[in-house]
Amino acid sequence: MISHKAFWEKGDFSRIADSMREGGEALAASFGITKGLKVLDLGCGDGTTALPEARLGADVLGVDISNNIVETGNRRARRLGLTNCKFQEGDASNLHALKDRAFDLTVSIFGAMFAPNPFDVASEMVRVTRPGGRIIMGNWIPNDPTWVAQLLKISSAYSPPPPEGFISPMMWGVESRVRERFSRAGVPEEDIAFAKESYAFRFPGTPAQFVDAFRRYYAPTMSAFDAAEKNGRADNLQRELEALITAHNQSASKDVTELSAAFLRVTVTV
Ligand SMILES: C[S@@+](CC[C@H](N)C(=O)[O-])C[C@H]1O[C@@H](n2cnc3c(N)ncnc32)[C@H](O)[C@@H]1O
Repeated sequence: MISHKAFWEKGDFSRIADSMREGGEALAASFGITKGLKVLDLGCGDGTTALPEARLGADVLGVDISNNIVETGNRRARRLGLTNCKFQEGDASNLHALKDRAFDLTVSIFGAMFAPNPFDVASEMVRVTRPGGRIIMGNWIPNDPTWVAQLLKISSAYSPPPPEGFISPMMWGVESRVRERFSRAGVPEEDIAFAKESYAFRFPGTPAQFVDAFRRYYAPTMSAFDAAEKNGRADNLQRELEALITAHNQSASKDVTELSAAFLRVTVTV
């Protein structure tokens, strides 16, 4: 079995993130960012929320486990002249390169939820955030009827069985599990707040082309297709995903796919 890092580096999340720019911009605008705020963006991808945070005046460090995506993030920041936004490699469950209490705000949008050790993730996020600071997570919700939760559910149904003791990333979308994780990291329950929100995606292509992007570039779907190809079920998987995205597509144009997906926003006051 390949490592968690190699699993994510096989993909190129930028190709999917291109459909998330407007959603990321809108989300970052809701974080209450003020000039000079020190922000850590964990599992940041190529900066869908990190770059807007920097444009709002924050000093941003983006951390991601994938070396390829870190390079893309740094290139995008340079191209935009954002000297207040840097990206580096790191694992959300072991942020050893980062000092205690170094950030005013730790953000993780559909990022740290994928790290395999959720209790370590919660404790590391609390450790690097200053007392009085905040943690904001965006997490997909298990069995939610909207399309991302369904895409992940279908992908895992076609993927090889997970190793023993595996905890599904989707458990970050269950309030009681999130409370348990942050409580163990020393946060009182009353300092953890939840809201169900919606994220907008806009892909410049048909639903079939969007599925193709997931098949070629998004690690969990790539892994599902690898397994499905081995047992002759790749066409079924392709059809299921196309039907899903077509059913949820809200676009009036045949050349654009527009979707929205529900997520759980978690806000922790440290
Ligand atoms: C679904 S993408 C989201 C990226 C970005 N936050 C966004 O909204 O566009 C998940 C990201 O988490 C990263 N990731 C997965 N496991 C990680 C870990 N243990 N530590 C840090 N990043 C991780 C992946 O490399 C990938 O870039």
